[in-house]
Amino acid sequence: MNMKKDTRVFYVDDKAREERIKEASRILKEGGLVAFPTETVYGLGADALNERAVMQIFEAKGRPADNPLIVHVHSKESCLKLVKSVSEKASVLMDSFWPGPLTLVMERKDIVPDVTTGGLDTVAIRMPENRIALELIEYSGVPVAAPSANLSGRPSPTTADHVLHDLSGRIDAIVDGGEVDIGLESTVVDVTSNIPVILRPGKVSKEDLEACIGEVKVGYDDKTHPESETVRSPGMKYTHYSPDSTVILVEGEHGNVLSRMKEILADLKQRGAKAGMLLTEESIPAFPSVISHSLGRKDMPEQAARNLFFGLRRLDEEGMDIIIVDGSFRQDGIGMAVFNRVRKAADMIIKV
Ligand code: TXA
Ligand code: MG
Repeated sequence: MNMKKDTRVFYVDDKAREERIKEASRILKEGGLVAFPTETVYGLGADALNERAVMQIFEAKGRPADNPLIVHVHSKESCLKLVKSVSEKASVLMDSFWPGPLTLVMERKDIVPDVTTGGLDTVAIRMPENRIALELIEYSGVPVAAPSANLSGRPSPTTADHVLHDLSGRIDAIVDGGEVDIGLESTVVDVTSNIPVILRPGKVSKEDLEACIGEVKVGYDDKTHPESETVRSPGMKYTHYSPDSTVILVEGEHGNVLSRMKEILADLKQRGAKAGMLLTEESIPAFPSVISHSLGRKDMPEQAARNLFFGLRRLDEEGMDIIIVDGSFRQDGIGMAVFNRVRKAADMIIKV
């Protein structure tokens, strides 16, 4: 970055709510970079139709230029201005899940610049549910391109502090709306083909989608695979969600995971490595003298979703060489999306 910015922080409390969101929206409209909360994770926003503004997003995050952005809208109507057509199935999905954590990939109109879509003929669009996000987009009067507001490759931010840690001095402003609700990024679905394809799992599950529109295909896997030639969702080929510490994921049935984690820990202790843990509530009593953070109850994966990125960042800041993740929580529903992220973050996966 050649120019250090003075990042303004807009706290949104009930008193000054409208005024502060309006001020942030003016920065967006004038081509600036504004981070804001959504129900999934914090996003780093810019006017999606302003090439120069969008280019600054890539620069601030250190994001590869071929990784396209999600465009955020505040209504179905404003989405129609950006895409060639909306298929019957896409329309049903919008009616069922918008506003909410579902992103739809559709054919773009020419007004959407190449920088926003990484040169693709398609554009990814979502209408978030967070009120601050919706108001910010509406007041700005423009569609808002917004990737997760982290440095490229780092865990997505779930608090304003996370954003400032990564991007302070690189962006014009942040709207601080407290901790996000879901904690994992939206489900991305390509609806350009007759049978839609899930490009990234999220809270809206395959079953949720199929209940509305019938068959849906899975077009992602849980590995990072830079060697593959055709990657449908360009973002999925890069290293993701990784803290600086080395991450070891132990997955399987709870009893097996517990005993394997104990072995690993003993081994690391012997070698003098500093290890921290992300543990299910059920495992916490077994490791009283280890620095750990909770992933929540193992039968409630929505708690793991909320705690995963938060916990990875915390242990990283606490200077751990190694982070051991307890993968004994449920793998269905949003649990599938949590496993997708944690497997991508992991340097080593042990199945027991
Ligand atoms: O929940 C979310 O989706 C958050 C919040 C801020 O809305 N945003 C987010 O953006 O996660 P980002 O940029 O971190 O992830 C966007 C994903 C990437 O995997 C990208 O490759 C994919 O969506 N994507 C974007 N446009 C696409 C397109 N035209 N075709 C296929 N995949 C696309
Ligand atoms: Mg991201």
